[in-house]
Amino acid sequence: MMNVIGIESSCDETSVAVISDELLTANLISSQDFHVKYGGVVPELSSRAHLQIVLPLIKDALELSKISLADIDVICATAGPGLIGALLVGLTFAKGLAYSLNKPFVPVNHIEGHVYSGFLMPEKPEFPMLAIVVSGGHTLLLLVKSFTEIQKLGSTVDDAAGEAFDKVAKMLGFEYPGGPKIQKAAELGNKETVIFPVADLKDPYNFSFSGLKTSVLRYVQKNFKDNIIPDEQKNNISASFQDAVIRAITRNVERALRNYKIKSLTLVGGVAANQPIRSALTSLAEKHNKKIIIPDMQFCGDNAAMIAFRGLKLFESGKRFDLNYNPFPGIPENHFTS
Ligand code: KG4
Ligand code: ZN
Repeated sequence: MMNVIGIESSCDETSVAVISDELLTANLISSQDFHVKYGGVVPELSSRAHLQIVLPLIKDALELSKISLADIDVICATAGPGLIGALLVGLTFAKGLAYSLNKPFVPVNHIEGHVYSGFLMPEKPEFPMLAIVVSGGHTLLLLVKSFTEIQKLGSTVDDAAGEAFDKVAKMLGFEYPGGPKIQKAAELGNKETVIFPVADLKDPYNFSFSGLKTSVLRYVQKNFKDNIIPDEQKNNISASFQDAVIRAITRNVERALRNYKIKSLTLVGGVAANQPIRSALTSLAEKHNKKIIIPDMQFCGDNAAMIAFRGLKLFESGKRFDLNYNPFPGIPENHFTS
């Protein structure tokens, strides 16, 4: 029996997961809701909260999985990218655990965790797969050839998709994180209200969301004095903005579907929780006769299940890491080629 534990603490979610013989037996996620009143994540407070909750979460995850510390075979933790103080909590904890149990420690790249999160679903993606990663910090279009080979096709040249959702939400007076609020408001709005432009870039697979964000700001400034926006208009702007994000994503994904031979498509990262984006990509996959795997909600936002799974695959592929492993100040080792 092979038991793998994963720890995630890159931002404002502390999460601990256990995979026993390829089966996920626990994926506990504790979200730090108190950042709401600051309008965004406060790094120092985040680190302290991770420190308070990580041990109780480990205890609960082991209990749920009906195993004890001594049964753990591999210890995985997110090594970055993310908030350094927050990362250090999970990473250092994992190293300490590995040292005391004399078991291997596997540092995991957070984005790679998201990339393979579709494998946590009952129906698995197949390589080569096209992955669209949309999170608060990253927007990437990747050609994933195996568990060790990822070719980067494109990325955002400015804001990440989730960042754009959060910034536009702020303009409309919604609380952080704004993505879910925009989605909710958009359900009641009319996306034809404003046709916000999608940036045309030289590279067909790159994204830009900064211009879109500015377009929304200009529209708000021009049409609403003193920033007083009636709810009906907030709904319409949300729907129009979300539609522009969908157009940007589907355009690039469709280009890649036309130009690369792939077996499956996957949509991952926090923004993959967005229902209209999920629907749009599902339709696109159907149109191109491709299998699409979009992880369940619990695997879209930050979670340790994806970290344990990614760590397990690295371990199985023969990767071994020293306890001296230090990903800082750079981004930890990843398997991207361009
Ligand atoms: O992957 P994630 O949990 O953290 C990072 O690694 O960045 O992504 C968080 C992002 C936030 O920007 C949040 O607003 C966005 O995901 N998000 C959404 C939705 N749920 C979360 N964006 C759009 N629609 C949603 N339903
Ligand atoms: Zn993430």
